[in-house]
Amino acid sequence: MEAANVSEELPSSKLGTKKYWDSVYGRELTYFSKHGDIGEVWFGEDCLERVVDWVLSSSQLEPHSSIVDVGCGNGAFLLYLAADGYTNLTGIDYSEKAIELARAVAEEKKYNVKYEHVDLTSEENDIGIRGKPFDLCHDKGTYDAISLCPDDVQKKRSAYMKAIHHITKENGLFVITSCNWTHHELIQHFSKYFIKEHIIPSPTFMFGGKVGSSVSTVVFRKI
Ligand SMILES: C[S@@+](CC[C@H](N)C(=O)[O-])C[C@H]1O[C@@H](n2cnc3c(N)ncnc32)[C@H](O)[C@@H]1O
Repeated sequence: MEAANVSEELPSSKLGTKKYWDSVYGRELTYFSKHGDIGEVWFGEDCLERVVDWVLSSSQLEPHSSIVDVGCGNGAFLLYLAADGYTNLTGIDYSEKAIELARAVAEEKKYNVKYEHVDLTSEENDIGIRGKPFDLCHDKGTYDAISLCPDDVQKKRSAYMKAIHHITKENGLFVITSCNWTHHELIQHFSKYFIKEHIIPSPTFMFGGKVGSSVSTVVFRKI
């Protein structure tokens, strides 16, 4: 396995463990069955809507385009697209509880979304052979979670990048939103497999004379 094209790592955290996500989605599944609340939308609804608006306005994507949400959690991104008439939607996550929740939510809303249990960092995963590669691969917060993994983090990031490259069609698109990495870092990390096509602007703030933004969203094209 090749190492990721980066030298610096983030400090590890429980957010980089499957145990953490299983407990989060186990709890959210209980809330959903009791109260109908689908749970947390990571980085907020505004951030999600900015990416959905970009999909809707993209001349390269159509309602029948194949779209996968990697590390889909409760599947909120796919629900927005289903509501907008997109029909070829897949969500994958390594947490069985997340998949259970996402399936329950889609069923309740009567949306036709496929969900699969897949670990994107596993060398044994067979996501590439289960079906055709996708027109668009979407990640919000998943590469961030993998980057916080307490063990073998470089190996896992490399495996993730390879998996994303594998499941994206030739010339297809990959859009990633991160709160841990800047645009510049994302472009550097993925440069072996993707070129930057576009940056989706997010609100900026000024602190100590410097301008920053709380999340970075980059649209890449497979090379
Ligand atoms: C910060 S949450 C984001 C969830 C969702 N994308 C959202 O924006 O609401 C990170 C997600 O990545 C998933 N995840 C983390 N590592 C993964 C891996 N190796 N393979 C698949 N999913 C993973 C977690 O289970 C969790 O659902």
